[in-house]
Amino acid sequence: MIESVDNVINYLSKITGWNLTKLHYERAKKVIKGRLKDRKVSAKDYESIITIEKNQEEVTFLINHISINQTYFFRDYEQLQSFSDEILPPYILEKEKRNDYSLKILSVACSTGDEPYSLAIILKELLDLNQWNVEIKTFDINSHVLEVAEFGQYKEYNIKDVPFEYKMKYFYFNGNFYELEKDIKKMCTFSQGNVINKTFMRTFRNYDFIFCRNILFYLTKEKQVETIAQFYGNLRKGGYLYLGHAEHLGKVSKAFDIVKSSKRFQYKKN
Ligand SMILES: C[S@@+](CC[C@H](N)C(=O)[O-])C[C@H]1O[C@@H](n2cnc3c(N)ncnc32)[C@H](O)[C@@H]1O
Repeated sequence: MIESVDNVINYLSKITGWNLTKLHYERAKKVIKGRLKDRKVSAKDYESIITIEKNQEEVTFLINHISINQTYFFRDYEQLQSFSDEILPPYILEKEKRNDYSLKILSVACSTGDEPYSLAIILKELLDLNQWNVEIKTFDINSHVLEVAEFGQYKEYNIKDVPFEYKMKYFYFNGNFYELEKDIKKMCTFSQGNVINKTFMRTFRNYDFIFCRNILFYLTKEKQVETIAQFYGNLRKGGYLYLGHAEHLGKVSKAFDIVKSSKRFQYKKN
C-alpha cells in the first residue's frame, strides 16, 4: 500500500515540480488515503488510475486538495508599499517619457486572487486608467481556487490587511462575504496553468513585473532554477521580479540585479 501511495506522490511531484517536504508529504498521504476510502479502490488500482491511465479528473482532485493555497489581500504589505511608492513611480515616469502607456504584470500562482487583485487596487490608485493600458495576467495550477478568484467574494480573514480606505472603496459587505468591486475584478485575467510547463510559460512575453510569491519554496531546486530562468525570458529589459518574504534567489540565479528599497529588495532584469 505504502509503495503505491508513494508512487502516486512521486507522479504528482513530477508534474507539479513540488518538492514534498515532510509536512507536505504527510498532507499528500492523508489526501490519497482518504480518496482510496471514498472511492473504495485499492492502492494498487489507484496507482494505475493516476500513473498509467493519467486520469485528469483524478489528478486535478489531488492537486486541488494537496496544494497549499494560503493567501490574503496586501500580503507582505511593506513589499507592496515599496512597489507602489518607490519602484512604480520612476518606472512609470520613464515609460511616459517614451510615450509608452502600457503596463504588463504577471501574478504567478495567484491562489484565490488576493494577490493580483491587490496589485489591481494599487495600479488603479496610481494610474489614470483612461490613459494607461494595464494588463494583469494570473494563473494557478489549482482549479478550485480560480473559481473563488473569479467569484470575487472574500471572508474577513482575506481582507484583514487591506487599508481601511481601500476596504471602504473597493469592498461591499453583503452580510456574509466581502464582495470585490467589479472594476477591480475586470482588471485581472485568470487561467489555469502550471509554472513548470515551458510551453505555457513561453506565452508570457515582455512583462514589466512578475510577482511569484510563496510558491518557489514548494518547488524542487531544479524546477526553481528553470522557473527563474523562464521568468528572465518573460520580463522586458528593466522589468522586475518579486518573490515572497522568505524567498530569495541565492544559489538559484545570478542573472538578476538586486535593487534595494527602504524596507525590501527586488530583482531587476538589466
Ligand atoms: C501559498 S499560495 C501563494 C499565493 C500568492 N502568490 C501569495 O503569495 O499569497 C501557493 C499557490 O501556488 C499554487 N501552485 C503550486 N504549484 C504550482 C504550479 N506548479 N504551478 C502553478 N501554481 C502552483 C498553489 O495552488 C497555491 O495556490
